[in-house]
Amino acid sequence: MAASRSLLSVVLAVCCYAASATVAPSSNASSSGDFLQCLAASVPSQLVITQGSPSFTTVLASSVRNPRFLTPGTVRPLCIVTPTNASHVQAVVLCGRRHGVRVRVRSGGHDYEGLSYRSVRPEVFAVVDLANLRAVRVNRRAATAWVDSGATVGEMYYAVAKADPGLAFPAGLCPTIGVGGHFSGGGIGMMMRKYGLSVDNVLDAVLVDANGRILDKKAMGRDLFWAIRGGGGESFGIVLSWMVRLVPVPRTVTVFSIQKTMDQGAVDAVTKWQTLAPALPEELAIRVIVQNRQAQFQSLYLGTCDQLLPVMSSQFPELGMTRADCREMSWLQSTVYINGAANSTPVELLLNRTTSLSIFTKNKSDYVKQAISKNSWEKIFPWFSGAGAGLIILEPHGGRVGSIADGDTPYPHRAGVLYNIQYVAFWWTTAMDAAPADWIKNVHGFMEPFVSSNPRAAYVNYRDLDIGENAVLASAGVTSYESGKVWGEKYFGAANFRRLALTKGKVDAGDYFRNEQSIPPLVPTK
Ligand SMILES: Cc1cc2nc3c(=O)[nH]c(=O)nc-3n(C[C@H](O)[C@H](O)[C@H](O)COP(=O)(O)OP(=O)(O)OC[C@H]3O[C@@H](n4cnc5c(N)ncnc54)[C@H](O)[C@@H]3O)c2cc1C
Ligand SMILES: *[C@@H]1O[C@H](CO)[C@@H](O)[C@H](O)[C@H]1NC(C)=O
Ligand SMILES: *[C@@H]1O[C@H](CO)[C@@H](O)[C@H](O)[C@H]1NC(C)=O
Ligand SMILES: *[C@@H]1O[C@H](CO)[C@@H](O)[C@H](O)[C@H]1NC(C)=O
Ligand SMILES: *[C@@H]1O[C@H](CO)[C@@H](O)[C@H](O)[C@H]1NC(C)=O
Repeated sequence: MAASRSLLSVVLAVCCYAASATVAPSSNASSSGDFLQCLAASVPSQLVITQGSPSFTTVLASSVRNPRFLTPGTVRPLCIVTPTNASHVQAVVLCGRRHGVRVRVRSGGHDYEGLSYRSVRPEVFAVVDLANLRAVRVNRRAATAWVDSGATVGEMYYAVAKADPGLAFPAGLCPTIGVGGHFSGGGIGMMMRKYGLSVDNVLDAVLVDANGRILDKKAMGRDLFWAIRGGGGESFGIVLSWMVRLVPVPRTVTVFSIQKTMDQGAVDAVTKWQTLAPALPEELAIRVIVQNRQAQFQSLYLGTCDQLLPVMSSQFPELGMTRADCREMSWLQSTVYINGAANSTPVELLLNRTTSLSIFTKNKSDYVKQAISKNSWEKIFPWFSGAGAGLIILEPHGGRVGSIADGDTPYPHRAGVLYNIQYVAFWWTTAMDAAPADWIKNVHGFMEPFVSSNPRAAYVNYRDLDIGENAVLASAGVTSYESGKVWGEKYFGAANFRRLALTKGKVDAGDYFRNEQSIPPLVPTK
């Protein structure tokens, strides 16, 4: 039952194929042509889809979650490369360096600002789409797995639980999120109170760096291995594969969902939830969705209904939870159910990579460290009703996720954090009317006194370009550290952001891997 090391052995076979090219990316017609010619020498032509190809639009849209970035006028890639082998990924980086074409890497395509497949400003770039590199190799005896970045978390959950229904992995709720981007930004989910974030359970990784080399944990060194576990995607290289520690789950877990209107005491319940949820037994996660002046309490408990009922009646009687609210099922089934699918939906749904592209959305995030008063919640609830209104999702922290030191990974929102807030604005039609955009800006403004400050923290996996965008220093041709600090300290805190930038300065001083919110290189002057 040893984990297959197929990717690793490829890796070692080609690791001497390293770059010496240091040409700064420019981007003109002749460099684009030279780049494509360079690719042709190492990547089979059917894996390079250029703008002129009949399948370009389909492949571009294949994993996109947010149709806002498929509209005409969006800056699209010169080509999409769909590697089937680590050597193809190396070739894209080497050709890109040599001919001045940047790459953006896409795993699951769920980036909130579409940065894995579009550029905000005109730029010639290639997309490396890892969808073909998505093996999940479970080592049941060791309770570990090697997971390729192109796998979705749904595919991972399925493979793990099918190998052993007593094993699981703590990661996000939406099954079509890509492992590559999700792990790069941390990974919060329903088991983080018991087991921490996804990155708190990453033991090793394989990455293609800016020199086209393939590095594992040992070869990449402490700082780089630290940085890729939560420092955000794209900045440090292309992570091909992650080795994770799997976690034990009971054969039966319990799920419930209880809705309360304002008349039924929703405000009291949410007020109490704020300090209760982060302090509950770690096996119990209760998240809240506030919409239409109602609060929906959604829960996963790693145990049976019989075990859960006394906990709820003693600690949270306000919810009035009864046996009738309990849904007992396997952990795997719970990952389907929590997403809104019926109890009877086959778990094979987790293998469906097709995303629904029907609605436009815009999200923002906050962290709360001090409970918001009941009086303030009375004023917050009405924001979530009427024309143009969206919703908020509250994710409790505490437990394991809160007990890890702020500097152990780049994710700094640990001790003292009660919960994360995610604001979601919807456009029910494709017409980009102003109401949802105004709503999310206004509600975010209204919330300022109630949430973390100096800096006002945000979650990198809920990417939001409103909080800042990089500027490139014309003199040096690299991203300015000062411009990165503006958004970077919100995602990572001041100390972690600086360590990320120093790491970037060591491994990619020329800033080849760059996007609107990539880590700028900081090279200390002695
Ligand atoms: C419907 C929905 C539900 C979500 N639910 C949760 C949740 O429960 N918990 C949570 O924490 N987050 C959640 N997210 C956010 C999600 O974690 C991020 O959007 C994540 O970055 C998506 O990863 P991806 O591979 O799909 O995205 P992509 O768009 O492919 O990539 C995101 C970023 O990472 C970079 N990147 C991608 N792959 C790699 C790689 N292999 N190596 C280096 N960089 C890479 C990209 O260039 C881009 O900058 C949700 C998102 C959506 C759309
Ligand atoms: C185009 O890029 C190439 C590098 O591939 C460079 O040699 C050439 O000078 C560039 N041309 C212009 C007009 O910038
Ligand atoms: C990947 O390429 C290497 C050589 O570069 C080759 O040895 C290996 O068999 C390839 N693997 C797959 C899965 O195609
Ligand atoms: C915002 O969050 C919701 C809920 O998780 C999600 O369905 C939506 O896709 C997100 N928006 C974007 C832009 O990805
Ligand atoms: C996969 O998901 C998409 C989008 O939600 C849906 O339209 C499609 O019917 C699903 N396919 C299968 C086989 O279930």
